[in-house]
Amino acid sequence: MKNKAIFFDRDGTIIDDVGFIKSITQIKFYPETFDALKMLSDEGFLLFIVTNQVGVARKHISIDELTEVNNFICNKLASEAIKIEEVYICVHDHNDNCECRKPSTYFLKKAAKKYNLDLANCYVIGDHPSDLLTARNCGAKEIYLLSGHGLKHIEEAKKITTNIVPGILSAAEWIKINENINRIYSPNELTDIIDRSAQVLKDGGTVVVPTETVYGLGADATNPEAIKKIFSIKQRPFNDPLIVHISSLGFLSDLVEHISRKAMILIENLWPGPLTIIFKKKPIIPDIATAMLPTVAIRMPLHPIALKLINTAGLPIAAPSANLFSELSPTRFSDISKHILKRADIAIDGGDCIRGIESTIISLIDEKNPIILRAGSVSIEKIESLIGKVNIRTDSTESSEAPGLQKKHYSPKTPLFIVQNIEDISMNKRKNSALLAFSNLDQNSRKGFKNVNILSDNCGFRKAASLLYATLAEFDKQKLEAIYVILPENKLLGRAIRDRLIRAASD
Ligand code: TXA
Ligand code: MG
Repeated sequence: MKNKAIFFDRDGTIIDDVGFIKSITQIKFYPETFDALKMLSDEGFLLFIVTNQVGVARKHISIDELTEVNNFICNKLASEAIKIEEVYICVHDHNDNCECRKPSTYFLKKAAKKYNLDLANCYVIGDHPSDLLTARNCGAKEIYLLSGHGLKHIEEAKKITTNIVPGILSAAEWIKINENINRIYSPNELTDIIDRSAQVLKDGGTVVVPTETVYGLGADATNPEAIKKIFSIKQRPFNDPLIVHISSLGFLSDLVEHISRKAMILIENLWPGPLTIIFKKKPIIPDIATAMLPTVAIRMPLHPIALKLINTAGLPIAAPSANLFSELSPTRFSDISKHILKRADIAIDGGDCIRGIESTIISLIDEKNPIILRAGSVSIEKIESLIGKVNIRTDSTESSEAPGLQKKHYSPKTPLFIVQNIEDISMNKRKNSALLAFSNLDQNSRKGFKNVNILSDNCGFRKAASLLYATLAEFDKQKLEAIYVILPENKLLGRAIRDRLIRAASD
């Protein structure tokens, strides 16, 4: 068996691009680099850095300075248990006619030989079109980032690839999802099911479609009859508006009246990804999709199948989660209920949903007063780092701003109770119940429960969020009398996890 690898560009990809870096004090890792590289290493990829450092030829930096900087980067990653196999550097100038400057495949071929790589299963990730061409030139796969110089060269990049994501973590997630898809379908099978699903959409039917958050039940967002089928299959009230999914910015201007500056900042930094933005709608979006509101919720999902399907059909897809109204959203294909599968015209298995909690919804209708309507997979902290302070919708503003955000929602069938103190639950009650928590518990607290599940890790609840609904779905299969929950801290993704659990507990 041959190995697979990821070739990362350095500046603008794993660290900030601040020009020629002479000293370690100028190194600024993107905060998400560590999670991203760990994710890829866990997927079995060997990790390499391939970088063009023209500053050496132009005498802005010395070889020694460059070596010190690269060593620092590798050591820092090693301290986070991330191994970089090798750093490949081209130190020549554009017109030196060297054999190693990207888009030359020199270093990739060298690595392929030494590390027994199958380049067809390798990826190049970078923020410059030359990274894309490097991949293309040796049959590897490519991902283009909008970090670093990515935005500046986007038009050129678009001519080469459609695999364009905001940053390093989205790239890692994209690859992980793709690895899963490859385990499910051969390339021909994948093309076939996407083509058939696109036809279903064009014919006004419904499709179960995977996204990075949860599975959706989708239909042509411009076809009122098709949308009606979604409401009917889900038994969803018509006052609960749908989210419209797009695959490129080209769709957006057709669907909405105005894209504000703050919306553009969020789009550039977070799409494709789990952020839904509310815009003023154009008439092409039928009233039934938006519960008669003059606004529409739009997002661009980070899932190759969803994006390909939208592109192939040439239609925006209106899709709520693929569950019966008020029940748990499915994050694994096997958790989609028979009721939904029987009634949808076609269903695409896209593997487990990597984020596991629905998108964050933000209204920018009043640009001066952005409001988070639903906590979700993008943290509020991240959003505030991009556009400044936002308000969080409280229940008192509920009916006007977010129709359909019913209190009772996202519920397992088993009664769920939120508790502060485990000691308050008697041993008798524990016998046929489960305990769900987000930080470690002592032995005494765990005693007596039929099942104890601690969903936590140290990377901002990412893993806990991805497993939340699947864990509740597993509890449901065990015929328990109750699920007791100790909530996580109210920050980062913990906020979204709390929101869903509090809704699940309310009656
Ligand atoms: O991650 C997600 O967002 C998933 C996947 C499938 O994309 N979708 C999802 O859809 O969670 P759904 O239907 O479960 O939630 C849609 C919610 C509505 O309940 C409503 O609260 C809000 O989005 N919404 C939709 N349109 C809106 C509008 N025009 N104004 C305010 N809120 C809106
Ligand atoms: Mg770069």
